[in-house]
Amino acid sequence: MFVREVLNVVVLIIFLQFVSSDEVQLSRYFKTRCKNDNSCEINSFCYGNDNGVYGYCKCKSGYEMYVDDKYYECVKDAKLGDVCRRSLQCQISAGPLAICNGYMTDGICVCNSTISHEVAGECYETKYLNEYCRVDQNCLLPENPIGEDRLGLCYYGVCSCRIGKRPAKNNRSCIENRMMDQKCENDIQCQMTENAVCRTICLCETGFTRSKDGKQCLRAALKFGEPCIENEQCSRYLENGVCKKNVCTCPDKYHGYETRCRKDVKPDEPCFDDAECVISKDLLNKVNCTKGICTCTYGKSYDDNFCLSDAPYSTDHQNGLLALSFLIAVFINFI
Ligand SMILES: *[C@@H]1O[C@H](CO)[C@@H](O)[C@H](O)[C@H]1NC(C)=O
Ligand SMILES: *[C@@H]1O[C@H](CO)[C@@H](O)[C@H](O)[C@H]1NC(C)=O
Ligand SMILES: *[C@@H]1O[C@H](CO)[C@@H](O)[C@H](O)[C@H]1NC(C)=O
Repeated sequence: MFVREVLNVVVLIIFLQFVSSDEVQLSRYFKTRCKNDNSCEINSFCYGNDNGVYGYCKCKSGYEMYVDDKYYECVKDAKLGDVCRRSLQCQISAGPLAICNGYMTDGICVCNSTISHEVAGECYETKYLNEYCRVDQNCLLPENPIGEDRLGLCYYGVCSCRIGKRPAKNNRSCIENRMMDQKCENDIQCQMTENAVCRTICLCETGFTRSKDGKQCLRAALKFGEPCIENEQCSRYLENGVCKKNVCTCPDKYHGYETRCRKDVKPDEPCFDDAECVISKDLLNKVNCTKGICTCTYGKSYDDNFCLSDAPYSTDHQNGLLALSFLIAVFINFI
């Protein structure tokens, strides 16, 4: 834990040094000596050449000196969105992360969008929630709802949300906490509650039901046997379903058939339809309601509520016998 904290501080220091060393280094004077203005390039003049002493070429106000080896030129200061030829022109007003987008002619001053974004005419290095920052302007919240502030707070060097909000899972927005039944403008605000959505107020999404305490959205079962915590989960889509031992089932003396709870009717007892007779899954296709009586398909009743199906059993049995006789035959031949 301690090592981790020390590491964090070290990373922060390195980061801050990187940011401050990145500031624009402008060469306002070009170390070419001049006697008078004629010996300097366009938009520059000879500075400090009094009394026959040689001076240095300097750009006029509103121009910056672009230097490339022994060549220099004075380029006009430009704001973000202005036409430019060199990134230097954009960086005076917009900072070191501004670039002239477009080559040589017809460029436009923009922020280098891979690492920065614009705030009030300046480019700031882009940082997301929980990342190191220098100023609030670093802390971009690109997925904050339209109309809300797109910037977080740089709190003790880390991008954070404003009071009353919390970071979304992807750290790209700050969510205003809205509880169930509170007014909302978008789904994100309701995400304090899992599986809640905004329908003018925060409500459970389709397929979910409200827990008794009103604080959770619980998945509503579509089939008997699905997991549950509360009865409501078993009765939203299942008729008369109840939650027993964390599984959706039916009240005592009832069983689930498709999406309804049906009365348990044992073999030889009076029934209304086939579903009443199919007390358990094992009985599917083995019992039906014939002439108003639950009747085992194979005509056999066992233990009052169980129908034997002799067809699959006998097949297995015969196969077993066949295998056994084969083994015996092999054994006999062997001796
Ligand atoms: C934008 O910044 C990235 C990362 O520092 C850099 O690799 C890239 O060259 C920059 N783009 C321009 C057009 O300067
Ligand atoms: C968001 O920030 C938290 C805290 O630092 C981190 O654990 C999590 O992995 C981040 N999430 C993403 C998607 O980057
Ligand atoms: C009950 O099962 C038997 C045997 O499969 C079938 O002949 C009969 O039609 C079934 N009756 C009903 C009402 O489904």
